[in-house]
Amino acid sequence: MAREKWASKLGFMLAAMGSAVGLGNIWRFSYVAGESGGGAFLLLYLVFVLLIGIPLLLSEVSIGRKAQSDVVGAYKEIAPGTPWYLTGFFGVISSFLILSFYGVVAGWSIYYFWNYVNGQLFTSPAGGYGAAFEGFIGHAWHPIGWHAFFMILTILIVYNGVKKGIEAANKVFMPTLAVLLVALAIYSLTLEGAAEGLAFLFQPDWSALSKPSIYLAALGQAFFSLSLGMGAMLTYGSYLSKENKLPSATVGIGLMDTFFAIVSGIMIFPAVFAFGIQPSSGPPLAFITLPSIFEQMPLGGFVGIVFFFSLALASLSSSVSILEVPVAYFMRVFKWSRHFTSVITGMVMFVLGLAVSLGMGVWSGITPIGDNNILDSMDYIASNILLPLGGLSMALFVGWYLTKDQALEASDMTRLPLGPVWLTIVKYVAPVMIILIFLNALGFIG
Ligand code: TRP
Repeated sequence: MAREKWASKLGFMLAAMGSAVGLGNIWRFSYVAGESGGGAFLLLYLVFVLLIGIPLLLSEVSIGRKAQSDVVGAYKEIAPGTPWYLTGFFGVISSFLILSFYGVVAGWSIYYFWNYVNGQLFTSPAGGYGAAFEGFIGHAWHPIGWHAFFMILTILIVYNGVKKGIEAANKVFMPTLAVLLVALAIYSLTLEGAAEGLAFLFQPDWSALSKPSIYLAALGQAFFSLSLGMGAMLTYGSYLSKENKLPSATVGIGLMDTFFAIVSGIMIFPAVFAFGIQPSSGPPLAFITLPSIFEQMPLGGFVGIVFFFSLALASLSSSVSILEVPVAYFMRVFKWSRHFTSVITGMVMFVLGLAVSLGMGVWSGITPIGDNNILDSMDYIASNILLPLGGLSMALFVGWYLTKDQALEASDMTRLPLGPVWLTIVKYVAPVMIILIFLNALGFIG
């Protein structure tokens, strides 16, 4: 059977942007930035995106397109008989970890959407938005229903193949999301307290840089937000043909993703200060601040409907790319049909997610890492450890396993003046930085 392909390069770009832009930009970015000191974090994050993220994005997509295979198969194809394919296994494992918590949070978004549609959240519930949110996510089975619903949607799209669902959907909602977020950011700027919020986001408190954990947090956020280091972009790249040029596409994807992160920061932090919420309040941050802004806005309930609808869609276009990684792999190895593979894999991820969901309430006493609950622990392992390790391995593969000519050829960089610069980054700069950040976080330096 012929391998599936995108209909156009634009289709690929939209799907890849759809993968990149998601809960990571709004929900995760805002709370991680809030916990890690705002401006100093933003600065590090931007440096890592530009210096490590975008160059590695190009490497990852190049490997996929060159091999025309899934995350494990790609290494077996290009480097037969070597252990490089283990990188792919890490990717498959990460995909299970990430989607199991991603699906839970995306389920919350759909619940919020639904409660705006029926008007429940138009005005602050008794006890406030914060208490309402905690009550909902801590409920034993309520959030699980929404999680299940979200996973069914994800499975349905992957079930229908690469081209039909994803390409079409992204064309509609990426522009919608952009317009909405920018409008919300502008509104947020008019709130009392906006200046304080902007200062928090844009005026680095340099003392925050002395904490080793902030470097790892910024690196993890850069990888998570760019969908990097797990093989999602590799798998998407494998549905591209040689005619599509990669460098401009990956830069576009990276910049777009960063744009969405900054806009959502501008949207959220002024509101955080305006409503007296702690910027360091963790994962619930966006779910509490945004409803508070909407309540104050003219037609805010309506904005809430559209916003949470967009957020759910943005999550869906990301979750699809996460599920596609193991699905593409299992389909090839076990020769299962796409239909069967997507249903089975998605169901396993749903079951894993049950632990995450229960971890917000009934099982909140279970704290695998430090005092982090199940969600935060899985996120920490996947985003701060597995993704950067995956990225490191991809960088070493392209920089050291491939010859210079092969690497430049695979990434369409052969004739570009930036080619050698990119290769130097992939070969030396990115790996050294990733390793230093790890050592630093482990306490070996500094
Ligand atoms: N980047 C997405 C977001 O910001 C999440 C995501 C999709 C992802 N695919 C991924 C994260 C692959 C890590 C790896 O919401």
